[in-house]
Amino acid sequence: MEPGPLTLHDYLYESKIENDLRYLIDTIARIGKQISYRIKSVELGVTGTQNVFGEDQKTLDVYTNDLVKNILMKSGLVSMLVSEEEDKAIEISDEYFGKYAVCFDPLDGSSLIDVNFAIGSIFSVYKGDSVLGRTGDEQVAALYIMYGPRTTLVLTVKQGTHEFILNDVGEYHLSRRGVKIEKEGKIFGPGDIKACSINKKYNELMRYWLKNKYKLRYSGGMVPDINHVLMKGKGLFTYPSSKDNPNGKLRVLFECHPMALLVEQAGGKATDGTGKRILEIENKKLDQRTPIYVGSEKEIEKAEEIMG
Ligand code: AHG
Ligand code: MN
Ligand code: MN
Repeated sequence: MEPGPLTLHDYLYESKIENDLRYLIDTIARIGKQISYRIKSVELGVTGTQNVFGEDQKTLDVYTNDLVKNILMKSGLVSMLVSEEEDKAIEISDEYFGKYAVCFDPLDGSSLIDVNFAIGSIFSVYKGDSVLGRTGDEQVAALYIMYGPRTTLVLTVKQGTHEFILNDVGEYHLSRRGVKIEKEGKIFGPGDIKACSINKKYNELMRYWLKNKYKLRYSGGMVPDINHVLMKGKGLFTYPSSKDNPNGKLRVLFECHPMALLVEQAGGKATDGTGKRILEIENKKLDQRTPIYVGSEKEIEKAEEIMG
């Protein structure tokens, strides 16, 4: 009798991580189910408020942020919460104080909801009760839940990167164990191509990809765009610095550190375009940003050669 597919629950046991980390990831996975459902049912719209990055907050940005906060604050598993949607860290009362610090982007790609593109939630986990002063290498887990035609959860607890699919009975079952990114692959996902008009090197890099017949795969959502590199196992995603965003647009704590860990655990590279590993960047402030180049090793090296 063929046993059923391995579930996220089974995988977390198999990985022998600490119980509280296991419970935390299970709780985040449960939150992902609720967000997946809500995206399909809650009305869209803009709240008229802005986040710390000065970006308009959508109804779902605020809804998902409150959902994550309300569940994790009372889970007894977290020491502090840092959200892309809040300008300071959320303190946890003594009664619920736990072992892990969690940084999260409750809804990444929210500007794409009204066109029904795939979006996601991103989580970065540190052991202890601090985040600032630590590097991305100190994360103990990173995961995203992607809300597309199927809801998938991609996770690393530093034992490789694995994909789980949410099935009809609400279980996440293992669909890809040990995602692998090959050394090269002619697929590019170029963020902020308007930067080409002033960033000559980015312009040169774009022309290199076009001249060498690279396939374009870019949706404007970091989660699906990096998921494409991971699940196809090749290519690269880039988001450069530009005049509007001198340090790039993407956030270190909520987007770049967790994505870099998932990509490196799959054998890919994740740098800031000048050879510096994203995971060596120290968390200095909550709204820190960095340019990001992630994907196949040779593709990143070629990009850095041109951007250097
Ligand atoms: P968020 O919706 O959390 O603000 O993140 C959006 C990010 C990321 O998903 C994507 O890679 C990038 O914004 C795209 O930026 P542009 O729309 O400026 O290209
Ligand atoms: Mn985001
Ligand atoms: Mn967001």
